[in-house]
Amino acid sequence: MTLIDVHLTPDYAARALRDDVRAGLSATPKWLPPKWFYDARGSELFEEITRLPEYYPTRAEREILQTRAGEIAAITGAHTLVELGSGSSEKTRLLLDGLRDHGTLTSFVPLDVSESALREAADAINADYPQLDVHGVVGDFTAHLDKLPGDPPRMVAFLGGTIGNLIPAERATFYTSIRDVLDPGEWLLLGTDLVKDPATLIAAYDDAAGVTAEFNKNVLRVINRQLGADFDVDAFDHVAIWDPENEWIEMHLRATRAMRVLIPEIHLEASFAAGEEISTEISAKFRRAGVESELAEAGFTPAAWWTDTESRFALSLWKAA
Ligand code: AVJ
Repeated sequence: MTLIDVHLTPDYAARALRDDVRAGLSATPKWLPPKWFYDARGSELFEEITRLPEYYPTRAEREILQTRAGEIAAITGAHTLVELGSGSSEKTRLLLDGLRDHGTLTSFVPLDVSESALREAADAINADYPQLDVHGVVGDFTAHLDKLPGDPPRMVAFLGGTIGNLIPAERATFYTSIRDVLDPGEWLLLGTDLVKDPATLIAAYDDAAGVTAEFNKNVLRVINRQLGADFDVDAFDHVAIWDPENEWIEMHLRATRAMRVLIPEIHLEASFAAGEEISTEISAKFRRAGVESELAEAGFTPAAWWTDTESRFALSLWKAA
């Protein structure tokens, strides 16, 4: 059966978007958070990104899950899989299959901000895993981790390298809040993209077919539609740079001419100088020692560290101390 708990008020997303756009486009330098890429079109563009020859993280993580799902099940004996993010993907199914074949899994708890994405994911999993209790939670994983349903031991999975969207201080808060909802002996499964040569990294975020550029610009289309803004989307260029100090990729949108943009729903006029940039995403890349010290700091002990055969991406398993 499928049950959905809604921890967000209906206007939560609309309000968060207004607040973010007001704050980010009034700031110097300008910024917008990456979560607003993902309307229906943005989610499709991201799916397309995962199939690009340059974008290796999805394939690398899938390879690890294909090889290790059985070990993950054997080590954790998890009764509940909690997945942060929509959880309809092929990767989720690899994990569910591994846990089900091990014979311990009773429930699946996908958590997502989008109620429609969550319902779709929950229904699809429910159809293919009829013995499983599917208990979705509509919530923001940076704010609504407080009550996670399901039988212990639970395993919280945060896949895809999305942890890279958080800056170090946000990661510390996030890991601590996960640790706080778990009991000692429960589990965190974390996907992290690894530091590698800059050319490979930059190509992954600036593909030849221009799909990532469209994905980046989609945030302006979202603001035009949701807040009545008049961004000339074609007047912005996609920029992806590698920051070697912070070891993260930064995506920007660069105004190709001076312009004013009206955003009526929030009574804001944003002025751009020619060449001015909006920072739209960071995607941090990790080293094993750094991940280990951040997780230790949050109260986790290491259980396993796996990479794909080309050592591009890591999947790591942590036990709440
Ligand atoms: C979904 C956050 C993991 O950072 O690689 C892909 C998003 N941005 N291409 C990433 C993304 C540009 C992706 N995450």
